[in-house]
Amino acid sequence: MSIDNYKNVNKQTWNNKVDIHVASDFYNVSDFLLGKNSVPKIDLELLGDIKGKSILHLQCHFGQDTLSLARLGAKCTGVDLSDKAIEKAKQLNEELNLDAKFICCDVYETPNHLDEKFDIVYTSYGTIGWLPDLDKWAKVISHFLKPNGKLVFVEFHPVVWMFDDDFTKIQYHYHNEKPIVEEYTGTYADQNADIKTDYIGWNHSLSEVFQSLMNNGLQIEHFGEYDYSNYNCFNETIEFETNKFRIKHLENKIPMMYSLMGRKI
Ligand SMILES: C[S@@+](CC[C@H](N)C(=O)[O-])C[C@H]1O[C@@H](n2cnc3c(N)ncnc32)[C@H](O)[C@@H]1O
Repeated sequence: MSIDNYKNVNKQTWNNKVDIHVASDFYNVSDFLLGKNSVPKIDLELLGDIKGKSILHLQCHFGQDTLSLARLGAKCTGVDLSDKAIEKAKQLNEELNLDAKFICCDVYETPNHLDEKFDIVYTSYGTIGWLPDLDKWAKVISHFLKPNGKLVFVEFHPVVWMFDDDFTKIQYHYHNEKPIVEEYTGTYADQNADIKTDYIGWNHSLSEVFQSLMNNGLQIEHFGEYDYSNYNCFNETIEFETNKFRIKHLENKIPMMYSLMGRKI
């Protein structure tokens, strides 16, 4: 598999996952349609009062979180590489009678599709691992933020991505040494789903994240690390409190997520 083709490989993978994700207990679309907000508390606290604010949501998948923010009164635009995900997002937007906009494109290409500045850029959980170059990512974020606008970014911790699937050994580099090219059976939202996907991803260290944002005009105002995951998307987990998951045999010994707030200066 050629790395140069990573966008097509990953687009195919994400397109193949959409129907399974929409039908999964993990995404729980039925409760969302009944009004449940899908955005985790950590993210909501960092986002603050979003009523009337404009939000650009990068890598929005099929739009559930984007639309949850729209229901709280924000003017939202969601961007994603997967045309199937964007099609579903638009359908949900219509069904719920909301006014979110959705654009299908690569994150790096967003400035060619959208001519607007935003109060907030938001992106979360399983995003930067699909992107080879964080400097390009940070440039896009900076481009779209109004002066004094903020980035809210919540992500799985790079330490989590160092382990093998069952968290028995260190298998991958902490630093971005090389692309990770693999085949995966099932999906994080439904481990038993009858689906095999190829993917090409990258591990990004915290210094890479910080440096890329600082190099592109963002001042870091908040950084947090968490010894649990909001989502039950890994193997060998235990739910030690409602919606807080850890790897059973690792207890609270590793960081599993981080949150960051950056301000455009
Ligand atoms: C794990 S999901 C997003 C997480 C989101 N919090 C969720 O669960 O709904 C990752 C998303 O990134 C998108 N994606 C992957 N590579 C991308 C790229 N180069 N540009 C834009 N979106 C991309 C995928 O299509 C997918 O919808």
